[in-house]
Amino acid sequence: PMAKELFGLNELGEKIRRAYGLHKVVVVPGDCESSPLTKRDLGRAGAKALLGVMNQEDTVAVTGGSTLAAVAEELNPQVSVPMKNSWFVPARGGLGESMEFQANTIASTMAKRVGAQYRLLHVPDLLSDDAYQSLVQDRNIQEIVQVIRQCRIIMHGIGDAMEMTRRRRLDSSAVQDIQKEGAIAESFGYYFNEQGEVVHRMLTLGLRLEDIMRTEIVIGIAGGRDKADAIHAVLKFGHENILVTDEAAASEICRQI
Ligand code: G3H
Repeated sequence: PMAKELFGLNELGEKIRRAYGLHKVVVVPGDCESSPLTKRDLGRAGAKALLGVMNQEDTVAVTGGSTLAAVAEELNPQVSVPMKNSWFVPARGGLGESMEFQANTIASTMAKRVGAQYRLLHVPDLLSDDAYQSLVQDRNIQEIVQVIRQCRIIMHGIGDAMEMTRRRRLDSSAVQDIQKEGAIAESFGYYFNEQGEVVHRMLTLGLRLEDIMRTEIVIGIAGGRDKADAIHAVLKFGHENILVTDEAAASEICRQI
């Protein structure tokens, strides 16, 4: 990109950074919704942002989604920071994603790419209350959930609420509830309204809201014009430190602040 263009992107990023009190905002050129190349750039920027904050013995919790999959693709071993004592774990249990976009898949791919360790959380999607109650008691599950909840870094995608209900094939009464509650965004299996309040949660194990609030570094990554409102809602939630996004989403967010 031309110097002038980069300057524009930096300005967009800086405006968002200040408006939401973030530590850092990275904006890649283009719209990842219409361009697979932009999606790849977004993934690369995400990988760079993640490696930039990781140290030698870290635990990183990651969510699922196509954007996190793009980050995993672009993650390359860093010579300066040996990763063999770092861990990648999924942020939460099954949320109804297809295999390639599941948090477990992404955590293991990322770990393998940089020579780190990983542990998985095998919890089925769509837990009933009974199933949840018995899984919570399981020793092995408790142990991995402890590891997840003590992560120092979280990297997560952000989705449009209604699109995520479709992708996760929620039944129509759940979809209606979520819509009535005014959900705009979905992330970590939590649904957020425009003010950034959690209005709905999926029943699964792993990170809880209180963990997200106290985790040292929370990196959100999402792009595409249509995700601007969802990104805004999650930023209003107020626990993000780093945002990695694209020009299309960033311009739209800036129009509204
Ligand atoms: O929670 C949101 C989704 O994981 C985002 O998925 O990156 O495929 O849009 P995506």
